Amino acid sequence: MGDAKTPLRRVILGTGGTIAGRASRAGDNVGYVAGQVSAQDLMAAVPPLAGWPLEVEQVAQIDSKDMGFAVWQRLAERVAHHLAREDVAGVVITHGTDTLEETAFFLHTVLRPGKPVVLTCAMRPSTALVPDGPQNLLDAVTVAGDPRARGVLAVCAGGVHAAEHVTKVHSYRVDAFDSGDAGPLGCVEEGVVRWFHAPSAQSQAEVVDARRLEAVMQAGAMPRVAWMTSHADADGTQVRAMLAYGAIHPEAMPHGMVVAGTGNGTLHQALEAALLAAQAQGVQVRRGTRCARGRVVPGAAGALEDTHGLAPAKARIALALELMGL
Ligand code: SIN
Repeated sequence: MGDAKTPLRRVILGTGGTIAGRASRAGDNVGYVAGQVSAQDLMAAVPPLAGWPLEVEQVAQIDSKDMGFAVWQRLAERVAHHLAREDVAGVVITHGTDTLEETAFFLHTVLRPGKPVVLTCAMRPSTALVPDGPQNLLDAVTVAGDPRARGVLAVCAGGVHAAEHVTKVHSYRVDAFDSGDAGPLGCVEEGVVRWFHAPSAQSQAEVVDARRLEAVMQAGAMPRVAWMTSHADADGTQVRAMLAYGAIHPEAMPHGMVVAGTGNGTLHQALEAALLAAQAQGVQVRRGTRCARGRVVPGAAGALEDTHGLAPAKARIALALELMGL
């Protein structure tokens, strides 16, 4: 596979994660440190990639549980830089699994790229007896060079997922990602992408959305959006505490709140009362569901807007970007 079929260059951006993790004992798949191996060394550990037109850049080297806006800004800038190059077909990002769906959704919403941006990862560290990272990396590079690929995608365990739908659904198994009711976009089989659905790019003409990128690059921080869950005995104390703390420390005042409701977005009445009070104070509130599958199906008009099908982790980012005017 490789240059004959996909002559254009692909750029691998490393950010850390378990794919770059190292354990002191081979066979230890949980007691390792994420973000230890360079993206250059990850690529070198995949012999079939030798000779492919690839470039590697290390953007960060972290456990993705510690992901935040500063790394997202740097990543968005580097992705945009490389996608603007005529000789680059697409970008691959090596990333931890824990917040992969958040980074994917952020880049999707901000950049709206016309070329493919493929996030990949591993559930086992590079030192595992049978690491899953090398195959995932090979598959991601394959997808990034596929002529039908576009937009922000995630590739893991042979599945190709869209940024809007991909979610980590398992804490341990290598096949840890799922696209819920939407299903995966395709799969990678022996170096060939089999598409079930054509990926859609939000912008066909532009490489990335320059206006949105500029707004993100100019921002010092993302608007603060808190995320909480409704549950038995949820009494709204958390909401009132955040507002009280924000009154004393204005920099900590939430601008928005996303609540993962029960079932079809229903909320414990005490939590709902606290959220309505927050909304009356000017905090933007969105209501999603804590169910692993499905969405809040609009029905009886509620006083709290729903997340329009977004899972809470993504709704939090969407609301923060909306509060930035994006
Ligand atoms: C991380 O998210 O960086 C650690 C966990 C993983 O990649 O599976």
